[in-house]
Amino acid sequence: MNSVRLQRFLARCGLGSRRACEKLIEDGRVSINEQIVSEMGARVEEEDVVRVDGKVVESKELRYFILNKPKGAISVNMDHRDRKYVVDLIPNGRGMGLFPVGRLDLDTTGLLIITNDGELANRIAHPRYGVSKEYIALVKGEWSLHDLRVSTEGGVTLDDGYVVNNIEVLKASLEGIRTRVTIRIKEGRKHVVKRIFLAIGSRVYELHRSAIGDLSLDDLQIGEFETITLEALKDKIKTL
Ligand code: URA
Repeated sequence: MNSVRLQRFLARCGLGSRRACEKLIEDGRVSINEQIVSEMGARVEEEDVVRVDGKVVESKELRYFILNKPKGAISVNMDHRDRKYVVDLIPNGRGMGLFPVGRLDLDTTGLLIITNDGELANRIAHPRYGVSKEYIALVKGEWSLHDLRVSTEGGVTLDDGYVVNNIEVLKASLEGIRTRVTIRIKEGRKHVVKRIFLAIGSRVYELHRSAIGDLSLDDLQIGEFETITLEALKDKIKTL
């Protein structure tokens, strides 16, 4: 191993996203050769011993999965007695130090990348890299493609004043008094799709994430997962 920055080293040890690893350093929980290091610039050499909260940490084999998240599984790691953490849908998921890249709401289904590679997670989830995500939503009202495009072009202002730009509406088909809509956005904000539809006078009844970049679920059924290689991810998500 050539020397690497401490936060990158920690992210390779399955300790979460790079941001989470930076927080460990800021909080003074990380030492190199028994010296607490709380600034970001530090580098780790091959022979160094890195500890977090006094326990030695080592690089893990990096693992990548895609999951078709079912409703009722949570993508934050909290103890909810009757809800399942998405990582627990993969055998030994916690043992491998896995975590989901970004979040889907409790009632949202669809594509979630699950990995222990904090660097990769950062590059997919951070808005700076502009990875687009495709969602299929069943929404209130009878909308034509044209009306949806008119309502979203030039951006949509959310309840907190934030403007979501570059909303691509790809499909709209009526289902009785509701509409099944396919959209693509580059945002990862909390409840962003639901808030976009509220802002244009509709509401989301069902939500499914169908793609991240060019990566889709193919025939993976709800609740199923499969491994994916880093090369395949890079091929499908061009900014990686
Ligand atoms: N937007 C939402 O409103 N919910 C999700 O789960 C994902 C995007």
